Amino acid sequence: MALTDQELIAGFINIIGQEHVITNSSDLEPYLIDWRKRYRGQAIAALRPASTEEVSAIVKLCAANQIAMVPQGGNTGMCGGATPNPTGRQVVISLQRMNKIRELDASNQTITVEAGVILQALQEAATAANRYFPLSLGAEGSCCIGGNLSTNAGGTSVVRYGNTRELCLGLEVVMPNGDILNSLRSLRKDNTGYNLRDLFIGAEGSLGIITAAVMKLFPVPVAQWTALVAVPSAEAAVELLNRFQAGASAQLTGFEMMSDESLALLKHYYPALASPLAGPNAYEVLVEISDYESEEHATQLMESILSGALESGCATDAAIASSLAQARKFWDMREHVPLAQADDGPNIKHDVSLPTSAIPTFVATCNEMLRKKYPGIRIINYGHLGDGNLHYNVAGPSSAETESFFVNRSKEIQALVYKEVEKLNGSISAEHGVGQQKVDYLKGHRGEVALNVMQAIKRALDPHNLMNPGKVVSL
Ligand code: FAD
Ligand code: MLT
Ligand code: ZN
Repeated sequence: MALTDQELIAGFINIIGQEHVITNSSDLEPYLIDWRKRYRGQAIAALRPASTEEVSAIVKLCAANQIAMVPQGGNTGMCGGATPNPTGRQVVISLQRMNKIRELDASNQTITVEAGVILQALQEAATAANRYFPLSLGAEGSCCIGGNLSTNAGGTSVVRYGNTRELCLGLEVVMPNGDILNSLRSLRKDNTGYNLRDLFIGAEGSLGIITAAVMKLFPVPVAQWTALVAVPSAEAAVELLNRFQAGASAQLTGFEMMSDESLALLKHYYPALASPLAGPNAYEVLVEISDYESEEHATQLMESILSGALESGCATDAAIASSLAQARKFWDMREHVPLAQADDGPNIKHDVSLPTSAIPTFVATCNEMLRKKYPGIRIINYGHLGDGNLHYNVAGPSSAETESFFVNRSKEIQALVYKEVEKLNGSISAEHGVGQQKVDYLKGHRGEVALNVMQAIKRALDPHNLMNPGKVVSL
């Protein structure tokens, strides 16, 4: 016979101790709501295990009692993937106490970390060992590596180092029945059968709970140069990207774009982060070059590519950061755009990717269509142009109207934007995942066969649909 909630809680306390079984409603609240405050669920408890064995024991108890499980890291996800459902018997399993760095092998350029290690702590551990961990995103002070792996996070250095998937060599995973899958290998080559690791990366906790990972490290670049560049159009931004790709090749480590409306919003909420360039400019681009040769080489590269771009007209103005503080300010500008949006109120988010060559057409078509249909709207378009990834977000005409505009217009605007994405062979989720936000779009977007395969994998690994149900693929 299945246990009652009280009996279950006693079982969890037996595994991890009373103080790590959170049931008090005010302490539970932060685990039940997402960063954007768009989703809210409920749970019997939030559980905070400190070891793989504890996670495994919790999962076995849940599986035996048909309790759904929602893995959670830093809870900074954008699609409601870490938020429990509004109904159903479920627990949140927070990995935050699993925050040990198990091993750093500087010679093999690898680091083995538990899932709850905060991204910034991982970067700092690499730096302390004179190595570089390149994954970087605005939420790095609170997101965890387990969450980064589970969303296959992108961020600002994908153009050179790839998504989180490309940075991972091995995983340890607690399966939906509580078995521990140990694939914590630090090998760059391993063709022994199916690649199980990649199944869990980007699965958003729907196939198992990642408890540890082996991540790649890199040599520390000798020099990093950052510039802010004004460009007159999306076409010019793509031309500038092509110039940097050709001129800097693998030394191009960041290429981020912000539209005039993104910069205006930033200036309104964070005046200290207003752009130093004379404006308004259709777009401003943040470019970063990392060099393994010398400071002089990096400077020369940046200056020569920029002077060619200014001459050609694809750039109209540029400021090269003259100090680390100024480079940090340029990055702060970019990273504060989503924070300014959060201050402003809800916006209709589109995390899309497209062939970079198609971006000017996408932006022109969507801007024209949406502005005509919804006069006065604000289009906060920014993102990782180097990866063909735009955050094409739409907000109501004024801050006061954002909530009602969001509630009444989200569905129709998303449908219109996604239609243009489909026409251009793009993706409706470049880096944020599916979570609960995009479950209903998956079939139309990926096609019936792909969805069938995903459902078959889900059923095979999680036959009782207990691992983050309702997220990614619905059964
Ligand atoms: P959570 O939000 O806790 O969880 C995310 C998903 O992973 C959920 O489905 C959850 O169930 C699952 N999960 C978490 N941990 C585990 C685990 N150990 N095992 C199995 N499943 C697990 N994202 C980008 O890709 N690029 C960006 O540039 C970027 N910038 C951001 C900037 C800001 C200001 C914010 C708030 C968010 C940003 N994000 C970005 C989104 C978010 O930070 C990433 O998706 C991040 O990877 C989520 O990590 P997390 O630890 O917060 O995961
Ligand atoms: C970013 O690139 O800033 C993030 O993905 C966050 C967002 O899109 O809001
Ligand atoms: Zn992003």
